[in-house]
This record gives sequence, C-alpha cells and structure tokens, in this order.
Amino acid sequence: SHSIIFDTDPGVDDAQAIAIALRHPEIELLGMTTTYGNVDVETATHNALLLSELAERDIPVAQGAAGPMVKPRHPAPAHIHGANGLGNIELPGVKGAKDPRCAAQFIVDTVNAHPGEVTLVAVGPVGNLAAALQLDPTLTEKVRQVVIMGGSIREGGNVTPVAEANMFNDPHAARRVLTAGWPLTLVGLDVTHRCVLSQAHMARIEAGQGALGKVLAGSYAFYRDFYREFLGIDGCCPHDSCALAWLLRPELFTTAPGHLSVVTDGIAEGQTLFAPEGRGFIQERWSQTPLAEVCLEVDGEAVVEWITETL
Ligand code: BDR
Ligand code: CA
Repeated sequence: SHSIIFDTDPGVDDAQAIAIALRHPEIELLGMTTTYGNVDVETATHNALLLSELAERDIPVAQGAAGPMVKPRHPAPAHIHGANGLGNIELPGVKGAKDPRCAAQFIVDTVNAHPGEVTLVAVGPVGNLAAALQLDPTLTEKVRQVVIMGGSIREGGNVTPVAEANMFNDPHAARRVLTAGWPLTLVGLDVTHRCVLSQAHMARIEAGQGALGKVLAGSYAFYRDFYREFLGIDGCCPHDSCALAWLLRPELFTTAPGHLSVVTDGIAEGQTLFAPEGRGFIQERWSQTPLAEVCLEVDGEAVVEWITETL
C-alpha cells in the first residue's frame, strides 16, 4: 500500500484522481497540497476541501503556490475546467478549514515524520515540490517515490506544440523537480493521451459515488464539451488519474530510464527533454542529471477500466 501526499490544482481530471486517492483501499491519503494551475490557488484549495468532504473524509489540505517561481502567471483558461475548476456546476460551500501550514512546509513535515514511506504524487504545476526541496534538500533521500503527471516525450504538447500544461505553467520549478535526483517517474501525454474516459464509463462512476458522483459527472460533462469542440474527441483524457494508475498498476505501462530536463525560456519553454540512458550522446551535460523513469506506452483501455472499477 502507498502513503501519499497529493499535490493538485483541481481541475476536472484532478477531481477524478482525488476521488481515487480518497477511495482506493491501497492508498492512505496523508494530505493534499494545492497549487494554482487550472484555477487560482484559493479555488484549488476550496475544491480539494470540498471533494474530501463529499467523500465524508477529513483530509488535511495545505495551500501552496499562487503562481510560477520566475515567469509571470498566465490566467487559468476557464474554457477547459470552468471558472470554478469543476465545470461551472453549482458547488456547496466547505465546512472545514485548510491546514495552517503552507504546502511546502506540510510536505517537509509529513515526509520527515515518515522517512522512507511517503510518495509524492503531483498533478499540477510543481512549484510546491520545488519549494519543499528548497526548505529541505534532504527530502530527496527521504521520500519513497515521486510521481509526476506532466510533460511529453514523443507526443508533443497540449499548450504549445512542444509543452505540456503542468511543465509550461512553471518550467523553472519543473526543471528543479525533474533534476533533483529523487526516485521519480514521469507520467506524461505519451500515455495519458492513449486513455479516453467515455460517457459510458462516467455513468458507471457516477452511479457508485453518491454526492461526489454528482460533482464528478457534472464537471466531466463540461470537460467533455471542451474535448469535443477543441480536440474532436468523444470523451476525456483522465490525465491525473494516470499518475495513480501507474503507482497502483505499473504493469499496464512501459517505462524507460533516462535523464530529464525542462526548457525554461524562449519559444520552447515548458518542453520536456529526455535523454534515454546509455545512448552515448556527445554532449555530456545531457547525462549529468540523475536518472528518472518516463512512461512511454500504456494499455489505455485497461487503465480506463481500472479507474472506472476503482470508483
Ligand atoms: C494537465 O493539465 C491540467 O489541465 C490537467 O489537470 C492535467 O494535470 C494535463 O496537461
Ligand atoms: Ca491537474
């Protein structure tokens, strides 16, 4: 089983992944940390608290990055996840309060309280992980695993021709986190674009999730319109749930070891760079960063079935 901190910017697909983290019997959700990204950070925190309450759980939620480390913040694109992050459906208020600590401090405290046991799963821009590393560089030796939904190796980008949204939204943080030298797996568009969650899957999910199901299904309908209109796909890619699918069902994925980095400036900002291990590149600086694992292929139908079954 896995003790995780879930770092998130909910977000329709984030909400699905949060539901999995709340429900899966092999996941112990130690807390959620929030970041701007799909929405501003206050909205992200509200949504994380709300989803936990709808699942009748009391999970600590610590608020984090309100914007990127270096570059100016781009406003969240309201046509993808809705202005409220959950497809503009009407949402109840939250009763609970956020954790008094900032996200980075929460990560540092929690990992140090359980050395060697905590897995960080990050499915938004990764400023909170970068800030946590700044507070405590020894985290690299103390986490069990880091799983990042973000990036793209061969697939191309989704916000620019070369950049995936979570990398693009804070490329400086992403570079720091991807080159930190902790046990890291990148779950990017190469695999998430092979997974399509249909209306039929969502109908099954809604039926099993009570009050939470209404929010998942309502927000999904909005997200699906975006996919139909802008991408010509009937269904949605459950990007963020794929990070949890890799953690729980790694046999459904093909991964490769290599050295990662992220372009921080210029027209290719946010592009993920991957140098496969052992290819003997001439420029050594490509292989000076520590090894990471990247997901390159997936059994997409099996992952979507796993998500639906879990929920
Ligand atoms: C990522 O960007 C966000 O919009 C999604 O929630 C996901 O984390 C996909 O590129
Ligand atoms: Ca996300």
